Amino acid sequence: MDRVRIVGGKPLYGEIPISGAKNAGLPLMAASLLTNEAVHLVNLPHLADISSMAHLLRELGVKISMNGGTFQRESANRKLELDASNIVETTAPYDVVRKMRASVLVLGPLLAREHAARVSLPGGCAIGTRPVDLHLKAMEQLGAKIELTEGYIEASAPGGLVGNHVVFPSVTVGGTENVLMAAVLASGETVISNAAREPEVTDLAHCLTAMGAKIEGIGTDTLRIQGVERLQGVEHAVLPDRIETGSYAVAAAITGGDLLLRGARMNLIEATVDLLSRAGISFTEETDGVRVTRTDGRVRGVDLMTEPFPGFPTDMQAQFMALMSIADGASMVTETIFENRFMHVPELSRMGADINVHGASAIIRGVPALSGAPVMATDLRASVSLVLAGLAAEGETIVNRVYHLDRGYERLEEKLARCGAEIHRLAD
Ligand code: EPZ
Repeated sequence: MDRVRIVGGKPLYGEIPISGAKNAGLPLMAASLLTNEAVHLVNLPHLADISSMAHLLRELGVKISMNGGTFQRESANRKLELDASNIVETTAPYDVVRKMRASVLVLGPLLAREHAARVSLPGGCAIGTRPVDLHLKAMEQLGAKIELTEGYIEASAPGGLVGNHVVFPSVTVGGTENVLMAAVLASGETVISNAAREPEVTDLAHCLTAMGAKIEGIGTDTLRIQGVERLQGVEHAVLPDRIETGSYAVAAAITGGDLLLRGARMNLIEATVDLLSRAGISFTEETDGVRVTRTDGRVRGVDLMTEPFPGFPTDMQAQFMALMSIADGASMVTETIFENRFMHVPELSRMGADINVHGASAIIRGVPALSGAPVMATDLRASVSLVLAGLAAEGETIVNRVYHLDRGYERLEEKLARCGAEIHRLAD
């Protein structure tokens, strides 16, 4: 099981290219099921989750190729070609879904296009039980018959889906994306109230519109969709990854360095910029990205509460906590989205962080320095928070189970090493 070794204490200087967003690429790939014409996606990151989604789509009958077979190193040069003209299967099997929960995003498109879907229930993961009940209730409101048998969602809509008013009781990114993709081919009008406003949802809505979908209210919490008969093909560039951007912004902040995040967009990271600016980090928009450095040498403790977009993203909470562990003063971090997203706390504590968890909140009291230690990655964002802590810590840190990292960070060691980090992978 691969491990990453870091020797910390080195400020990072240089440039980091930001890849396309994993959490936009996954629903966009699922959206290829909605048309029998070619869908080309540019700027997709080369990640385990993207490969898992490609594997699933191939099992359903989608023909997939990347740049005609020649691998491109930079994601900006990559073009994934998907052809769903001949869907041969409507089952997303357990062994695929258990590895990548976002597989549930094929439910809406399969129901819309094939009027049937058999998708394994995703099960929970390290950060929470992560049910899909809101997805299923919404599909029923669109006329689907849903049964749960032997761990599978059996969904059918023999006469096709029918538009309706779907009100989400709480914000769900995947639920909004699934219903959006189901509604674009439903007959009649669908209104989604309390829709997620994450940029990845907006990116999907723009791509669907380019395919001929009729969607109003894009970017707001109320989406109004007029169903159409069919969608055509499209070429769509995936937006830059705002969580990767925020993670490397913390790398600059926690090491006291200065990084240009090439391809980053300020309008995608406003809540992160606002909070980190109050902690003493400066962000400067430049022609080809965003520059990040400390304003006056120190990092100040500030409080954080995670919220749906445009609030501070839960996917940045672990990274922020690593930074707060070496700040002047205290910080209270409250996680409102997932019920178990503090798995990084005991590992950061092994490195000398002073953190006390009380239910959904954690109090972090900054310490002068962390010390390197062997630590265990538990989930994608916890693993990168341990890498960030290792970059700042005195001495050697070994992060175990780094397969979590490969799900969401493309060439992380290389990108950091090129900016002066002493980091490399230990293949066991
Ligand atoms: C997406 O997950 C992201 N994943 C997550 O990123 C992200 O943390 C999350 O949105 C919140 O922003 C992808 O986009 C592939 P939700 P998703 O449905 O759609 C509860 C990462 O690190 N809920 O918005 O699964 C759920 O349990 C990953 O890149 C229900 O109760 O998140 C959670 O507490 C981690 N019933 C909350 O809502 C449902 O039917 C938000 O979940 C659906 C969700």
